[in-house]
Amino acid sequence: MAKVTIQINGQEVQAEEGLNLIEAARAAGVEIPHFCYHPGLGVDGNCRQCLIEIEGVSKLQIACNSFVKEGLAFRTDSDRVKQMQAGVLEFLFLNHPLDCPICDQSGECLLQDYYMSNGKYESRLDLPKHHKRKAVPVGPRVMLDAERCVLCTRCTRFCDQVTKTGELRIVNRGYRAEITTFPGRELDNDYSLNTVDICPVGALTSRDFRFQKRVWHLRTAKSLCTGCARGCNTYLEFDDGKAYRYRPRENMAVNDFWMCDPGRVTYKELNDNRLDVAIVEGQERPFHEALELAGSWINEAVGSGKGSDAVVLVSPQCSTEVLYAAKKFALDVLGTTRVGGGNVRPAGVEDEILRRADTNPNSRGLEALGLTRNPADLLSDGGSVLLIFGDDPIGFQKDLADGIQTFQRVIYVGSNENSTSGAAGLALPMAPHSECDGTFVNFEGRVQRFRKAFTPRGDALWGPNLLARIAEFTGDEFGWNGPKDLWQELTSNEPTFANLEYAQVGDEGRLLDAGQDAGRDAGVTAPASGR
Ligand code: SF4
Ligand code: SF4
Ligand code: FES
Repeated sequence: MAKVTIQINGQEVQAEEGLNLIEAARAAGVEIPHFCYHPGLGVDGNCRQCLIEIEGVSKLQIACNSFVKEGLAFRTDSDRVKQMQAGVLEFLFLNHPLDCPICDQSGECLLQDYYMSNGKYESRLDLPKHHKRKAVPVGPRVMLDAERCVLCTRCTRFCDQVTKTGELRIVNRGYRAEITTFPGRELDNDYSLNTVDICPVGALTSRDFRFQKRVWHLRTAKSLCTGCARGCNTYLEFDDGKAYRYRPRENMAVNDFWMCDPGRVTYKELNDNRLDVAIVEGQERPFHEALELAGSWINEAVGSGKGSDAVVLVSPQCSTEVLYAAKKFALDVLGTTRVGGGNVRPAGVEDEILRRADTNPNSRGLEALGLTRNPADLLSDGGSVLLIFGDDPIGFQKDLADGIQTFQRVIYVGSNENSTSGAAGLALPMAPHSECDGTFVNFEGRVQRFRKAFTPRGDALWGPNLLARIAEFTGDEFGWNGPKDLWQELTSNEPTFANLEYAQVGDEGRLLDAGQDAGRDAGVTAPASGR
């Protein structure tokens, strides 16, 4: 859209014609308080918190429903605006319980922020406050505190416009008005936790996350959901080596502002049931000893001329970097071409919003590296050594156990204990995507980066480093100085990734065929969060 010149608080700025004034001001570094506006939902204009003064217009106007045009001048800082904004806020606080110390939204609440910045701390209400329902489970994953609600209708509009399930409504009038579900219905759609994200106050909270952690103790890494091939962009929030929640990270080319509820709980795999030490024949062993054993098994196979009948079974759960390193290890260290893998998981639910039936984050990465092979075929003839990367082939497909057991030596490399790690003679801990940098390629062929949140747990290592450590015992030259170094080599050796520089992938990802991408990435700006 064309840029035009406007004035905000007397300063000339360039803004996109037609953009609403909350976004235009935000782009210029000016925050206009608001509750009901959210960039992913239609404008409702009900909260009146975003009032501004537009030159030449006598009455104050709402910024969320006023738009940039050439020569427009408006103020967000005049006495009149400040007085009206404070008045609206005081009105919203009339019956609000002000229970910030016990509210799970505390620290990320718009009402709390505006209250603190307006300083109207003394209530002028002589009557007792009107109380409403507190801690009501409105669905299996969402809790409602009705007296904290500012009736902005973001949650009802989400259920009407995005999921089109319409579970939520406002009932009653005046000070008795409150959010509720229709009789006999629950807020149980597959995207219900997005209402918690967009609720600007502590009225809707996540039953999974509430009271687990004060949000100001959390740190954040840009990450990706691994629940399906969509690869929704996320913030992974963590503290002290533990993941606490995922929140969606806006990417208009992938997931807009949302993520699904099943994907949201996949953070638990990063904490629970972790394989963080080496296990040899069911017993915990020192990591160095286990690596040496892996090296000796490989030397044994290669030395007796049986390296070529070794198999490296990889998974579309692994990052592109791990897949590339495993392929190179198979070809250069083991000397086998029996390397590849595929999906072993049952198909998931596919819908028209985000969810994909393929429950792997990197099927396209596997394909782009030429590694797509049927696991059953790959295992069918047995062999000397089997190296399994990630996932749980036996847990998901019991009949693969027979093929796996025909190998003389089985080494499992993964992040969680499971049926396959239990069946392997040697299990080595690999860092999951919360503990290293890397990429997945989503179902559209979009390469997307995830960032390391915290240091690997226990003895776990970044997958390529783990292979490099094994190669120390086989006497092979093998290894990289981190993900960037590996990426450079990968893009030189793998034609599908040719010329795709790490920096180009950026925060929004990049289609493998960058030519197709030109129109989508150019000018895609993830709108700031509605908070
Ligand atoms: S529950 Fe939250 S999102 Fe829904 S109307 Fe109330 S304040 Fe708005
Ligand atoms: S749609 Fe897929 S990638 Fe997105 S949140 Fe759900 S499971 Fe995760
Ligand atoms: S009226 Fe503009 S944000 Fe609510």
